[in-house]
Amino acid sequence: MTARKVIIDTDPGQDDAVALLLALASPEEITVLGITCVAGNVPLSLTQRNARIICEVAGRPDVAVFAGRDAPLCRPLVTAEEVHGKTGLDGPDLFEPTMPLQAQNGVDFIIETLRREPAGSVTLCPLGPLSNIAAAFQAAPDIVERVQEIVLMGGAYFEVGNVTPAAEFNIYVDPEAADIVLKSGAEITMMPLDVTHKALTTRPRIEALRNLNTSVGHFTAEMLDFFERFDIEKYGSDGGPLHDPCVIAYLIQPNLFSGRRINVEIETQSELTLGMTVADWWGVTNRSPNVLFIGDLNADGFFTLITDRLAQL
Ligand code: RIB
Ligand code: CA
Repeated sequence: MTARKVIIDTDPGQDDAVALLLALASPEEITVLGITCVAGNVPLSLTQRNARIICEVAGRPDVAVFAGRDAPLCRPLVTAEEVHGKTGLDGPDLFEPTMPLQAQNGVDFIIETLRREPAGSVTLCPLGPLSNIAAAFQAAPDIVERVQEIVLMGGAYFEVGNVTPAAEFNIYVDPEAADIVLKSGAEITMMPLDVTHKALTTRPRIEALRNLNTSVGHFTAEMLDFFERFDIEKYGSDGGPLHDPCVIAYLIQPNLFSGRRINVEIETQSELTLGMTVADWWGVTNRSPNVLFIGDLNADGFFTLITDRLAQL
């Protein structure tokens, strides 16, 4: 099987960091063409720094990392330091990365790459607000049909919201961007809270990573020791939901996941339900299906994949 060419668009974030490590640990299945950073969990100045830290932790200072938008398309930025800490990667001791940040803007990199690579050969993997993806589609509508697939983390239906009662964070931060992407006509697979809340970093799963006894294993375990506390306190769960690695694991082992092709639309008007993903799971409207909405996963298989792959780094 030839490796799938991907652009990972991200706002690290401890869970984004594990997704980046999983992708970089899986060269048989994934070729990372570039990492584009977006404002989200923490401001862009930190997300682009964190992405480069993770590349260096993975021993991959060669990866091209770009800074994209520092704000949503038409709203002020909302961040999530309460979840991820002030740095966005609280937990392990951090260091100043030495690998370069690319001079080109991440949005321009997305456009240029999709125009250069053969049509249908590049997958976009957004792990944060969709500001960069939507900005690229607005600036260069011709690239939409050249996208192989968008596999994104975002949204929620049965699991309801995590940042408001109605909305999941990535969609809530930039609902106009999400609306543009979901109406674009691109092939979309969505990893909502409905599935990510079943991927919990229980203590044995974190200890399996620590027991790799490698620098990557220790770094990851320390990130997750910090990351899990917010959700354990909020939900009384026995771990934190490992949201973003679901996107990368789906590219490697899609049979770990199950879902349904349905229509999903974004609330962009109501202040009360702004950013809600209105998912027609039961087909009660005649709105045509536009996403594969993932609802379930084999959680043990998911964590075994992550642990086995991170052991390679
Ligand atoms: O709601 C979870 C999502 O918001 C994840 O991508 C997390 O990293 C934050 O960006
Ligand atoms: Ca994220």
